[in-house]
Amino acid sequence: MDIIKNLKGKNFINIEDFSKEELEALLKLAAKLKKQTKGKKNLKLLEGKNLVMYFSKPSLRTRLSFEIGMTKLGGNAVVIKQDEIILGKRESIEDTARVVSKYADAIMVRTFGHEDVEKFAKYASIPIINALTDLSHPCQIMADFLTIYEHFNKFKGIKIAYIGDGNNITNSLLTGCATLGINIATATPKGYEPNADELKKAEEIAKKSGSKIETFENPIDAVKNADVIYTDVWTSMGQEAEYEMRKEIFKNYQINKDLMKYANKNAIVLHCLPAHKGLEITEEVFEEHQTSIFNEAENRMYAQMAILAAIM
Ligand code: CP
Ligand code: NVA
Repeated sequence: MDIIKNLKGKNFINIEDFSKEELEALLKLAAKLKKQTKGKKNLKLLEGKNLVMYFSKPSLRTRLSFEIGMTKLGGNAVVIKQDEIILGKRESIEDTARVVSKYADAIMVRTFGHEDVEKFAKYASIPIINALTDLSHPCQIMADFLTIYEHFNKFKGIKIAYIGDGNNITNSLLTGCATLGINIATATPKGYEPNADELKKAEEIAKKSGSKIETFENPIDAVKNADVIYTDVWTSMGQEAEYEMRKEIFKNYQINKDLMKYANKNAIVLHCLPAHKGLEITEEVFEEHQTSIFNEAENRMYAQMAILAAIM
């Protein structure tokens, strides 16, 4: 567990800041914490520790999984929302970060600009966790990897097909898969590809891990022989004005029975949720694969408990 000990005080902002060994150790710890706490008494690992959670976007899973996860570790969580502090307007991020550092032992931030989370990290004297920015969602991806490992008992040789918008989820999946040596193929419409810098980073990392990274426009090309079919909303938080336009652009990127025919027979479906049934996924496919999708949601808590226990 020396790998975990060495993560104390570290920020959890980008997947690619962590080595394969570190991500594997965190996932192993997550599985252990799940065994120790699911339906059992709370632990005392983070007794006396406080997490501040800041949200400038809505959340169900992130809010609950962090808050209840902290309770399960014996610690405490406090939530603060955009309308309470008006981040960067009522008070600068620099000052907010320094004030919160005086009260808490870690800060979790969900916001728009990735640079704002980095600014938090620069001025805070306690670890910062990225709980979703427009660029990435590393906590989600850790839960996804835990779910994939629980199901297949391996990463080597597994292929994920991500279909839809090249967004924060896609970016984190790419760098995460590259680090862990998982193969990934994306299918996104022209103009909605994953972030070019993140893709480049992933391709660089993949040279070492041997992970195969492919990007397509046609969903069928990506889904062929995939073990995991992954999708996310077509309109992310903050893009609501583009909803109708995006519905039209992404209409051929739906996970439905016809597309699933090209995947491996035993393929699972993942969706980070919230889902819009009838858009990125049909109700039929969603319900058929609800076990893996809701296990994935459950695993947010255990993946994050491992991160909290390691860095706090
Ligand atoms: N997947 C996810 O982050 O869900 P919430 O937006 O509800 O937190
Ligand atoms: N891409 C989505 C993920 C939600 C968890 C969004 O940013 O809204």
